[in-house]
Amino acid sequence: MSFKCAFLGCGGRSHAHAWVYPNITRGGAVACCDLVEEKAQAYAEEFGIPAYYTELDEMLEQEKPDLVHMVMPPTIRVPLMTRLAEAGVPAVIVEKPVCIGADDYKALRALEASSSTKFAVNHQLRYHEKMMELLEYVHGGGIGEVRFLDASSVLPMSGQGVHVLDLLFAFADYEPVQTVFGASAGYDDINGTHPSPRTAESLINFPSGKRAALQAGEGAPMMASDQPRHMHKRIAVYGTKGFIHWTMWGYERSLPDGSIETGEHVYREVDDPGQVNLTNAMFDWLEDDNKPAPTNLATSLDEWLVILAGYQSTVTQNPVDMPFDPPDDLLDQFKAFVGAEE
Ligand SMILES: NC(=O)c1ccc[n+]([C@@H]2O[C@H](COP(=O)([O-])OP(=O)(O)OC[C@H]3O[C@@H](n4cnc5c(N)ncnc54)[C@H](O)[C@@H]3O)[C@@H](O)[C@H]2O)c1
Repeated sequence: MSFKCAFLGCGGRSHAHAWVYPNITRGGAVACCDLVEEKAQAYAEEFGIPAYYTELDEMLEQEKPDLVHMVMPPTIRVPLMTRLAEAGVPAVIVEKPVCIGADDYKALRALEASSSTKFAVNHQLRYHEKMMELLEYVHGGGIGEVRFLDASSVLPMSGQGVHVLDLLFAFADYEPVQTVFGASAGYDDINGTHPSPRTAESLINFPSGKRAALQAGEGAPMMASDQPRHMHKRIAVYGTKGFIHWTMWGYERSLPDGSIETGEHVYREVDDPGQVNLTNAMFDWLEDDNKPAPTNLATSLDEWLVILAGYQSTVTQNPVDMPFDPPDDLLDQFKAFVGAEE
């Protein structure tokens, strides 16, 4: 069967969801929707999409899509995801960051528990070919027992910290987090929709004894001086027998004979196949309930709780035992603590 796919939001980022459709064989784009008619019309023309709408409910009623790509700022996720779930849309890919604070986190936890819609977050890095190869290598024992994970991004937590945290969870094989001790300073808010500490670091312990460091924002490692800030997502994983290290332009991994394999990639070129793989993972999940996409909503909310624990830890100056129940106004408490101006 060919899945019917639709796009909600025809802004800048949504182009990267649509332009890979020529490489998607199991589904086709049937419609797009934006409040701004000119945007919806131009998007439909650019990608050869047969229908465009300015009203979400009308699109859902007319097209009955199997999969909706929801590409929106994080400030309006809860009402729109709720509408998609109530309309019975079978699957939705939602852009990152999934949340901005604790109140929307709680609302999405409730939605995840009560709805049958299969939501996944657009952490396409997790689906890059090289990333999946490195994950298989690490999970297959290629570096021995994992002891330490080091993930960082120079853009702040809500911008790209969430992407590297998602990788950290994957390389930790989704072991539940035990404690988080976070420190952060200053305040940043990309586009007024991505509130974040200006700089933040969390030290994470797992019950198995492995540990991790997550760093996002100013002070995170710049791996090459000629690369812009958004090009500094990276993860390194250290085990009892070796390591892997991935950056946005290359990778290293230790081999059993003690030598180091290295390789280069062009991010834009490897990102598009990652987006295709993520879309295919949604089709797999639609076909088989036992094959949830790795970046499903429940896992992404577990990841977001680690970020909230970093905020909580900053405010209380104490480690946070996981899981924890964040206060609804945690983001406001955090903003007051770091001296964010309204
Ligand atoms: N995964 C990645 O690598 C990556 C890269 C860049 C950005 N992003 C994320 O993408 C997200 C948003 O991206 P953007 O820059 O395209 O946003 P945007 O604000 O440019 O676009 C959103 C669009 O949605 C439309 N819209 C809003 N409410 C609507 C509604 N109710 N019905 C129909 N249309 C509606 C707006 O008119 C707008 O055109 C952000 O969360 C950002 O973090 C992810």
